[in-house]
Amino acid sequence: TTNFSILASAKALPTTKVTNQELTQLMATSDDWIKQRTGIRSRHVATDETTTSLAVSVAQQLLQQSRLAATAIDLIIVATMSPDYLTPATAPQVQAAIGAEKAIAFDINVACAGFVYGMQLVHQYLQPGQTALLIGSETLSRLVDWHDRSTAVLFGDGAGGLLITAKPNTATGHWLGGHYATFGADGHYLTAGQQPQVNPWSTRTDGAGSNRWAFQMNGRRVYDFATKQVPHSIEQALMQARLESSDIKAFVLHQANARIVKSVGQKLNLATEQLPMNIAQYGNTAAASEPILFAEMVAQKQVQRGDKLVFTGFGGGLSVGSAVIEY
Ligand code: ACO
Repeated sequence: TTNFSILASAKALPTTKVTNQELTQLMATSDDWIKQRTGIRSRHVATDETTTSLAVSVAQQLLQQSRLAATAIDLIIVATMSPDYLTPATAPQVQAAIGAEKAIAFDINVACAGFVYGMQLVHQYLQPGQTALLIGSETLSRLVDWHDRSTAVLFGDGAGGLLITAKPNTATGHWLGGHYATFGADGHYLTAGQQPQVNPWSTRTDGAGSNRWAFQMNGRRVYDFATKQVPHSIEQALMQARLESSDIKAFVLHQANARIVKSVGQKLNLATEQLPMNIAQYGNTAAASEPILFAEMVAQKQVQRGDKLVFTGFGGGLSVGSAVIEY
């Protein structure tokens, strides 16, 4: 086992909260449909906040909690599919805002699987004694067509993160195993943010309009992908860690749809207590969903030092990943 100590966890949510009822004024939907098909009741939407400001708030809380100086940070990774700029990326702006001069900083984009992919990168990068900030931050509201009921009801904005250190001699905090897989041939089932390809010589119009900017999703295909590949990924990761699902205190699953979480639980024969959920309040916050959920579990003392946990993300790419850790 390799050292992977989570010293702090934090979340940041925009102040504006939008209920299902409010969405009925923009599109033909209902509170009942959204609750029954997704488990979502409301979501936060960034008005004054940005992907960067939410990530900076998380970084500041992580430093405060761990009582570490910003100059002690070696690595900052922000997982996001909704950055404020293509360049500079989000993580360098976080580095500047907190004054983490020594840290190298970059973004990764694996859509809703971004956070668990970031966990694997942190695990592989950190040398003994080094420390990383891993943050998932999203303002998906900018990628949503707020009149398309097939996608608009699903997503929300927010950020969450972990401060992770590879101390040589800590008693708890270990990386136990992981499983990662990419299904690029199915990528067209979930798209967002196609960039306009406009230049003086271009004859293309497909990306220049606004319709390809917003989420387009074959919900049924993504649902089938998730309910098949997530249990498989978890089984593979547990096998690598030489653990049974009953050894795991909680499965911190990406919060895309309460029905997906329940289906995974049924397939793997998990107890309800092993499947924490907060999708009702936040909707799908992509790379931010697992760290927001985990920060709330820690704050509510639902997880103790020494507990074994599985983090699983899945979504655009299509991508899936699972990390098994001891907290
Ligand atoms: N309100 C009311 N009715 C709606 C709405 C809505 N918001 N959206 C769709 N409907 C209607 C449909 O038009 C359809 O009507 P019809 O039967 O008359 O044709 C009916 O409801 C059923 O629609 P389905 O799409 O079959 O509903 P389903 O039960 O499959 O639920 C959903 C749709 C919630 C999108 C589901 O498929 C799902 O959760 N898929 C996975 C999505 C997901 O996880 N995406 C995120 C991936 S993460 C990432 O990388 C961003």
